[in-house]
Amino acid sequence: MIRIGLVGTGGVGRALMDLVGERDDMKLVFALNSRSGVGDQEGLDPERLCGYLGENRDLSGFGEEGFGVWDIQEVLQRYHVDLLVEATPTDKRTGEPATSTIRVALQNGLHVVTANKGPVMLHYRELKDLANGKGLGFGIGATAGAALPTISAGENDLLGSRLLGIRGVLNGTTNYILHLMETEGVAYTDALRQAQEEGIAETDPSQDVEGWDTAIKMTIIANALAGTDLTLEGAQVTGITQLTGEDIMAAKRDGKRYRLLGELNLEDENPRVVVRPLMVSQEDIFFGVQGKNKGVQYMTDNLGEIAILGGASDVRGAAAAIIRDILQIKKRIFRKV
Ligand code: HSE
Repeated sequence: MIRIGLVGTGGVGRALMDLVGERDDMKLVFALNSRSGVGDQEGLDPERLCGYLGENRDLSGFGEEGFGVWDIQEVLQRYHVDLLVEATPTDKRTGEPATSTIRVALQNGLHVVTANKGPVMLHYRELKDLANGKGLGFGIGATAGAALPTISAGENDLLGSRLLGIRGVLNGTTNYILHLMETEGVAYTDALRQAQEEGIAETDPSQDVEGWDTAIKMTIIANALAGTDLTLEGAQVTGITQLTGEDIMAAKRDGKRYRLLGELNLEDENPRVVVRPLMVSQEDIFFGVQGKNKGVQYMTDNLGEIAILGGASDVRGAAAAIIRDILQIKKRIFRKV
């Protein structure tokens, strides 16, 4: 039985509670949000907790199990867990408070799985080295495409080959907007609203439409799979906000369509992430990536070009990516559980 502690009770955190509740090999021991927490060493009832969170954010009112302001070190002393899931909102400038929480969990001997892009983009090497030094797992699949297995496929299936380049349609929100504008003639602002209603846009949707979410995911993938130390500072990022309905319809008349594409040539002396809307023709691997779906293409020295398509953005998919990371850790190093 894998005992899990969760930090972050937003959409992804709650979807994770649902998925853990459907399994008999995991139990949720504590859940924390910015103000409060709830814990039971025997395991919380995820359904009851999700129901409560639908109405309340303050977990201190959740019966005897609830408590107020917490300190992660104290929580880890009070409850025994094998693995911490960190799923709080991203701060891409500082990566805090999530980075500190993850560091403390690893220092306390816990495996960590995170859905939070900030700490991974800014501190991947440090956190991964800390985990490796202690024989712990550090799962980051949910930060870079989530349901689309960019990291797990890269870590497992590119083994022994060198990564030469990466191309990716990695943002479901912009792909959905472009899809609605092209296929249904929906205006940009209405399409963005629909993406927000579907719950896939970032809290600040400029992260999606101005291309930063794609740039962050490209950076994370490169640093994790190719050992680079890229930051956003070197990235060249253009979003879809300047694209007009007329641009999209003109491309359509030519049998083409726009995709917000991230590209990185790792053979450059100074590789840098480039994100921009590109018109692609039917021959392009990303032409058929429709709606909220995404895709990644790896160029390698010995395995040729490998593409993975699909993995639509949604909270249940993101939670499933966390479960996938937990099970990968279990398979590799979790033998005692
Ligand atoms: N806002 C992101 C997307 C989801 O639209 O793909 C989380 O990465």
